[in-house]
Amino acid sequence: MTTAHSPAQPATIPSTTLGAGLRSSPAVRTAVDTILAELARASAALTAERPPNPGLKESYDALLARASDVRGRALLYPFIGSGLGNGALVELADGSVKWDMVCGIGVNFFGHSDPDLTRAAIEAGLDDVVKHGNLTSNADAYEFSSLLVSLASANSALRHCYLATSGAMANENALKICFQKHSPASRVIAFRDCFMGRSTTMSQIGDAPDYRQGLPLNTLVDYMPFFDPVEAERQGKAAYIAASVARLEDFIHRYPGQHACFIFELIQGEGGFNIADPEWARALMECCKKHRIAVWDDEIQTFGRTPRMFAYELMGVGDLVDVLTVGKMTQCCATLFTPEYNPKAGLLSGTFTGETVSFRVGTRVLQRLRDGAFYGDSGSNARHHALFRRLAADLIARHPDWFPPVPALGGGGDRLAGGVGGMMRLTAFGGDKARITAACKACLDEGVIVFYCGHGPYHLRLLPPLGVFKDSDWPRVFAVIERALAKVK
Ligand SMILES: Cc1ncc(COP(=O)(O)O)c(C=O)c1O
Repeated sequence: MTTAHSPAQPATIPSTTLGAGLRSSPAVRTAVDTILAELARASAALTAERPPNPGLKESYDALLARASDVRGRALLYPFIGSGLGNGALVELADGSVKWDMVCGIGVNFFGHSDPDLTRAAIEAGLDDVVKHGNLTSNADAYEFSSLLVSLASANSALRHCYLATSGAMANENALKICFQKHSPASRVIAFRDCFMGRSTTMSQIGDAPDYRQGLPLNTLVDYMPFFDPVEAERQGKAAYIAASVARLEDFIHRYPGQHACFIFELIQGEGGFNIADPEWARALMECCKKHRIAVWDDEIQTFGRTPRMFAYELMGVGDLVDVLTVGKMTQCCATLFTPEYNPKAGLLSGTFTGETVSFRVGTRVLQRLRDGAFYGDSGSNARHHALFRRLAADLIARHPDWFPPVPALGGGGDRLAGGVGGMMRLTAFGGDKARITAACKACLDEGVIVFYCGHGPYHLRLLPPLGVFKDSDWPRVFAVIERALAKVK
């Protein structure tokens, strides 16, 4: 018998939830397929770079003016997307089409309007809420986290994952974990030219004076020089490594027991795509272990794009990593840690962990990275890098006047094209800041989006969408870069 307080139950309990039933409903699948077919039709119309549509100039200028006005500062690049792209090509709201070789500073490894990721995004839109939190959440957040941990744990002792809504926040969580574990140690060690994000603390640790102008300084940082291949060659690698370890020991002896962590960016991003040497990195990490200093690996920029999924795998140092941060192409940012570094309850939380769409798309990104042919010496990340270097060498040889030798890089020629995997740099105009910035703007005008990196010398920075990039795209992109560099005074 039912009463007002005990409503009638259905006679049979469905074998799945209504939510799962909705997602797998044939009507929903047909509707999503129809949308994706429309997307493919629209996207296929973008086949090459093209200039702005003069008829859209007025409305585009108004959009840019509104963006600048509301921010209180002009956009660094006059870029506002239309919402449509095709692989590495993206359409702007002025109707122009450009090669996107920086992908939101490394976010869109699978380019623009990717049908598989769009499907995941549309399906995510059906969920009952957009945002999830630490208190209550659907399963997607944990699916993403479990997959990330299973990939990370193959070659490290990392076993747990905490989500955050930005790389800076993932780094904040990492720092708290290290401080709590090694309390009362209050100093950190970081590399010269590192970048860690723009929270108050990360702006202090990041080695760029402009990014912390006017901020009170309350974080104690000791800076180690990053690996310098020119110096290592000059001194001999063994002597160079010994000198680096001696320098680290110096800091440790000056402040005994006071360092909570050493933050490693094994390939510096903003700092100029500088690459650590594996033996050198191992020697510094082992020194940290000896002195009970946490080894924290910031892979927010490197994750997924080197010839191994994790830069610690490329360097063979996964056994030494205590804490790891990832972001950008993962769509969700995360802090991973070993059981030993699992913090006490209450240290990490926050209202939001992220959005259904980020979890679903992020999970697809991880699955595609895992199942694709990106990694290894003959993987596509390495192959694309080799193609980049070959075309860069041709460009340098054709225009020696644009590519003078750079002493800090040990000379000219092939030393002016660098990086690893999907992190590519090209050092034109002697690495002069003003001319590199002008080159970025000229590239944008001509139809290819690149950015810069380094703190002197400066380089053109490419983070291409290698997940969808074709070998045959390279000469087309280089033709635009060549036209652009010809315009730089
Ligand atoms: C190495 C590194 N750490 C941290 C960050 C900060 O990430 P976010 O901009 O998502 O806060 C970045 C961003 O460029 C980065 O490259």
